[in-house]
Amino acid sequence: MSTLDTLFERNRNWVNNKKEEDAEFFQKLAQGQSPKYLWIGCGDSRIPAEEILGLSAGEIFVHRNVANQVLSTDINARSVIEYALIHLKVKHVIICGHYGCGGVKAALSNEDLGETLNMWLKSIKEVFVENKAELSAITDEEAQQDRLVELNVLKQVERLLHTSSLQKAWKENPEPPVIHGCVVSLKTGLIKSLIEVEADEEKIEPIFRFQNIWK
Ligand code: CO
Repeated sequence: MSTLDTLFERNRNWVNNKKEEDAEFFQKLAQGQSPKYLWIGCGDSRIPAEEILGLSAGEIFVHRNVANQVLSTDINARSVIEYALIHLKVKHVIICGHYGCGGVKAALSNEDLGETLNMWLKSIKEVFVENKAELSAITDEEAQQDRLVELNVLKQVERLLHTSSLQKAWKENPEPPVIHGCVVSLKTGLIKSLIEVEADEEKIEPIFRFQNIWK
């Protein structure tokens, strides 16, 4: 007996349903993966990537962390990005934030959340400072949070452009990946596109271009 019996029971039901839809589903799954999409989203339990996109096992490579960040010092996110772009050669990268993000709300407060969370949320405070004029002009608290959620996504898209993995994938992949910055509303469940960036060296600030890639 396990305290996870209910979940394991659900797992068996899921297996049976999948086999009913396609008797060879698991044989195919075991052979390998070739997902078209990489998802970088918030770890928030209300944003399950596969479910909100109507995708099944094998269709999307997923990385989630607090407030969907792409930090240059985060070897977890960076190795996911390298693997997905260089080895799996995904066609689309979706960086998706969500309105009402607890990480963004916390970053907007002056609360001391503990050393590690303070460190993690610092870069969102920096996004606030970079956009202080625009954000300070928004008097409604929720609207200000929502706008910072969007600006945070745009910042992560920019940071992705600065990685050598993305630049190599743009230069060398047969189908260079398109980057999508999106935000999902918890109130409606709908995803909104903020930006789409197709492969183009000019989109990368010159100081961040790697000369061995773009020679
Ligand atoms: Co969140």
